[in-house]
Amino acid sequence: MSDLRLGEFVGSLDCGTTSVRFIVFDQYANIIAQHQLEFPQYYPAPGWHEHDADEIQQVSNECVAEACRKLEEAQWAKESIRVIGVTNQRETTVVWSRSTGRPLCRAIVWTDSRTKNIVAHFEKILAATGIEIETGQFRRGVDGVEALREITGLGLSTYFSAIKLRWMIDNDDDVKRAYEADNLLFGTVESWIAYNLTGGASGGIHVGEVTNASRTLLMNLRTLQWDDRLLKFFGFRPSILPKLVSSSEVYGHVASGPLKGVPIGALIGDQQGALVGNKCFGQGEAKCTYGTGAFLLFCTGDDIVKSSHGLLSTVAYQPGPGAAPVYAVEGSIGVAGAAIKWLRDSMGFIKSAEEINTLAVSVPDTGGVYFVPAFSGLLAPYWDPGAAGLLIGLSAYTTPAHIARATTEANAFQTRAILESMKLDSKTDLKHLKVDGGMTNGDVCMEVLADVGGFEVVRPEMRESTALGSALLAGASIHLFGWDSSDPRTFAQVNTKGSKTFIPRLSDKERKRRWLMWLCAVERSKGWEK
Ligand code: G3P
Repeated sequence: MSDLRLGEFVGSLDCGTTSVRFIVFDQYANIIAQHQLEFPQYYPAPGWHEHDADEIQQVSNECVAEACRKLEEAQWAKESIRVIGVTNQRETTVVWSRSTGRPLCRAIVWTDSRTKNIVAHFEKILAATGIEIETGQFRRGVDGVEALREITGLGLSTYFSAIKLRWMIDNDDDVKRAYEADNLLFGTVESWIAYNLTGGASGGIHVGEVTNASRTLLMNLRTLQWDDRLLKFFGFRPSILPKLVSSSEVYGHVASGPLKGVPIGALIGDQQGALVGNKCFGQGEAKCTYGTGAFLLFCTGDDIVKSSHGLLSTVAYQPGPGAAPVYAVEGSIGVAGAAIKWLRDSMGFIKSAEEINTLAVSVPDTGGVYFVPAFSGLLAPYWDPGAAGLLIGLSAYTTPAHIARATTEANAFQTRAILESMKLDSKTDLKHLKVDGGMTNGDVCMEVLADVGGFEVVRPEMRESTALGSALLAGASIHLFGWDSSDPRTFAQVNTKGSKTFIPRLSDKERKRRWLMWLCAVERSKGWEK
């Protein structure tokens, strides 16, 4: 320790859907050390997708330990990490035992669509009995669905946590027993990580952060509190729920390991983290992150903007305890990078995800192939749990290269579909889109996005935006570097490395032709599973 330099850094633990990374940033967002590990994905039946919450925690611990080792290798003391933030895949539902701190079953991942029947069941209840708005006053039918949307910003979908939690309690005996004995704790991934980092069964905190909670169907978007009407509607007792906290405050300290004693100063859903990391603080600023799925968030400031075109209203971040929240409208795409992973792992068309670029660029176009990657139905703006993945336009001429190119085009079409909805909702046309996430590393994917989408794509040089967002909020929680999460100007010196812009080159006529073909393909993929 004595020979090592002592700096001032912020650590960010980014727990995504397929991998975890821990990144150490300095005050300008230079990356000083990092480590990333993938973890197992479980697909026990078609449409099912599970994680082992213990494995997520294990790889998180390994990433922290390895990044700290690399930091010391670079002659920095690990005590230079002054505070850490956590950012995470959202909606994924974890239940664990209050007494042992161990998971009661595998976590159900946000992509999992096994709960279609539960969604249909609650749709029926909304139609017949409705949801109680005030004591004794119910709103039924379409009005009931709208009431749910007004309270939560969300529609009824397999995507959100309450539906997954209902499935666990109704279908898993261990979970049911623990619930009946009031020995069950529920949380999304940030809640599970914070619990374990602060000691687990020996004194760990049980908190849930508001951007994550805004994806559960249980939180009131206005009050940022769990809503009794929703708990009653879905049939949960309040004692299973974590205490709600803001996105930036010191919740507790790391209980063991190389970061023992370091404060945890931020928790935030990964897509909202990327919005903050891209410094989209102003009304109308937007970003799209291409990870397993793709998520386009459009900041709406203090306003909760209700979409009439298939988008969600969500909390963008809450700068501190009791602070006024900032809101966003979101378009969530279920499958983006996951389709490339499928080409790699299931089809064997490519050996590494990066190879999609060389394969896609080896042909001038898709040869008439369209790919709707509706692996677990379609999310925004279509919201069809019964849609099935579809490859259409195949002929003897089709090669893996055409399918690879159609995969990159699918991302562009899905993004355009979200932007079309945002345009209709906001009556403004987004001229350019800030992008980040693993898939944005290749120029080919970005060129296709600009060409087919018909908008300028702006890709920052340093695009670990998700991790950076939680680092900024964590630093602000202890006033490091003068950062203040309620005053974005204090982040002016952060990540000023510049960006590259991709301009659309396709003719308007050709872009329109392909768009109409995509819309036809989507129609054919819809409603396949009854
Ligand atoms: O809503 C799900 C989202 O948070 C997952 O993000 O980056 O892990 O695909 P990602």
